[in-house]
Order: sequence, then structure tokens, then C-alpha cells
Amino acid sequence: MTTTDVATASAASAAPSAAVRIRSLRRSYGDVTALDGVDLDFAAGTFTAVMGPSGSGKSTLLQCAAGLDRPTSGTVAVDGTDLAGLSERRLTLLRRERIGFVFQAFNLLPSLTAAQNVALPLRLAGRHPSRAAVRQALARVGLAERAGHRPTQLSGGQQQRVALARALITRPAVLFGDEPTGALDTTTSREVLALLRELVDREGQTTVMVTHDPVAAAHADRVVFLVDGRLHGELAGASAERVAAYMAGLERSAGAEAGAEAEPEARAGAGAAGRGVGGERAAC
Ligand SMILES: Nc1ncnc2c1ncn2[C@@H]1O[C@H](COP(=O)(O)OP(=O)(O)OP(=O)(O)O)[C@@H](O)[C@H]1O
Ligand SMILES: [Mg+2]
Repeated sequence: MTTTDVATASAASAAPSAAVRIRSLRRSYGDVTALDGVDLDFAAGTFTAVMGPSGSGKSTLLQCAAGLDRPTSGTVAVDGTDLAGLSERRLTLLRRERIGFVFQAFNLLPSLTAAQNVALPLRLAGRHPSRAAVRQALARVGLAERAGHRPTQLSGGQQQRVALARALITRPAVLFGDEPTGALDTTTSREVLALLRELVDREGQTTVMVTHDPVAAAHADRVVFLVDGRLHGELAGASAERVAAYMAGLERSAGAEAGAEAEPEARAGAGAAGRGVGGERAAC
């Protein structure tokens, strides 16, 4: 073995396995820069929450990471595969097999039963999942008994769990959720969050969730904060109170900055808020 081989082998064994690796990610829409150079890894088997003010680029980050949107520059690798190198057809296949996505609106087809909704993506791909496979997917989200019900016969939380079963039936390398509990009441939201946490703990399901809710974010192992399309900082194992304090710091700095443009003497406040947030970042 050469020195280079040894170096390569030890680097490979030292590198934590990343289900998603994002490097120098930029996404512009005309004059708007939604993402401005993001470097981020989502380690396999971990649960990450993405937070930040409205318009900070959270959805764009998820869409690019999930291969639903193409970056302007930079790279995204899912499960070791660089998405930029894939044709549309290969990207579609990878999305279908290796990536799960759930949205705030559950996006179930109302005329289909829960089981039919869960099986639909695979059927569209020309595959015919067995009844047992569909039932098992529903069982994983605690809905084995509701396979024959249509979405209108299910509560909001149950509908989101069907959407989760649909996203998870292929056992994807990563599950993305863009505000998956945003349309649910508090109790139902907590049930779905507990389920997401359980899927991570029980099955090692890598999960990345955008949320505005500090309580939701506190279910994650790690919370990353975006501001103006850039990574601002992160917290590990944070309580809802700590996440809320960080967000309040961000909002204070944004408010003070906006105020400072009109009124220069407001800058002192911006500095104070900025230091508070910086302290959280330093803690990580
Ligand atoms: N398709 C698009 N065309 C033009 N601009 C876009 C498009 N998608 C997003 N943007 C802009 O990119 C920026 C980031 O948007 P994004 O939806 O990622 O924000 P977000 O953090 O998810 O916000 P929210 O919390 O409100 O959902 C915003 O300024 C938005 O207006
Ligand atoms: Mg969004």
C-alpha cells in the first residue's frame, strides 16, 4: 500500500457517512439569490431541522438537495451520487428510489384509498408493490388498519402519515419534509413529530425537515439556521426554548438592520442582538 493509499483509506474511514453532501450550493432566480454558497452534510441516520426567516432559502435548499430543482452552481450528492452528473431520466429514478419528500399539503389523491396512494409512485414507475409491502409501509406509520380509507375519511395527521408511508415505501436514503407539520394542529403535529423521531431512532431513517416551529425543531438532533441564503449557524440537541431564543436573536438582528438603514443610531441594537446569536453559534 502506498502512502497515498493509506491517506485515502484513513480519510475514507474517518469521514462520517453523509446521506446528503452539499457543497458551495448557489441558486438564483433572475436577480434573486435564494442560496448563496451553502456547505452542509446530513449524516446518515440523523434528524436535522432547517430553520430561518421567511425567504431565507429553506425550501430552495430542500428542493435542490432532493433533486427537484437544479442548482445554479455547486454540488449535491445523495447517497454518494452527484446529482449534477445525472440525466433527467436517471435523476427521476434516483428521486423515486432514494429520496422521500413530504409537503405541508399532504398531496394525496382524494379518489384513491390510503393503500392505493402509498402504492401510486411505484405503480407509476411500472412496479407493482405487493399488498404486504404496502401494508407494511402503512404499519410503519401506525396506519395498517386504515389501508382501505380515502383521505377524506382520515384526520389531517393520518393523511400526513399516509404521505409519509408513500415517501418511505422505497426505504429512501433520505426523507425530506418541507413544513410537514405546518398544516396540523398542535396535538396532531406532536404525533407526527414523534413518529418522525421514532423512524430515525428505530430504523435510522435520515430525515431533514424545514420548520418554523421551535418545538418541532427540538425533535431533531441538530438545527441549522439559514439567513439570506447562507448558513448562519447551528445548534445540536437544543431545547425548544434555546431554538426559539436563537430565532428571536435572528429576528432582532434583521429588525435592527432594517431599522438601521432608515435610522443609523439603531445599529447599536443590531450589534447586541448579533453578539447574542454569535454566542449560540460559538457554543456549537
Ligand atoms: N421559482 C422562483 N422564482 C423566483 N424566485 C424564487 C423562486 N423560488 C424561490 N424564490 C425566491 O427565493 C428566495 C428563497 O425562497 P424560499 O422559498 O426558499 O424561502 P423559504 O425560506 O422557504 O421561505 P418560507 O419560510 O416563506 O417558506 C425568496 O426570495 C423567494 O422569493
Ligand atoms: Mg419555504
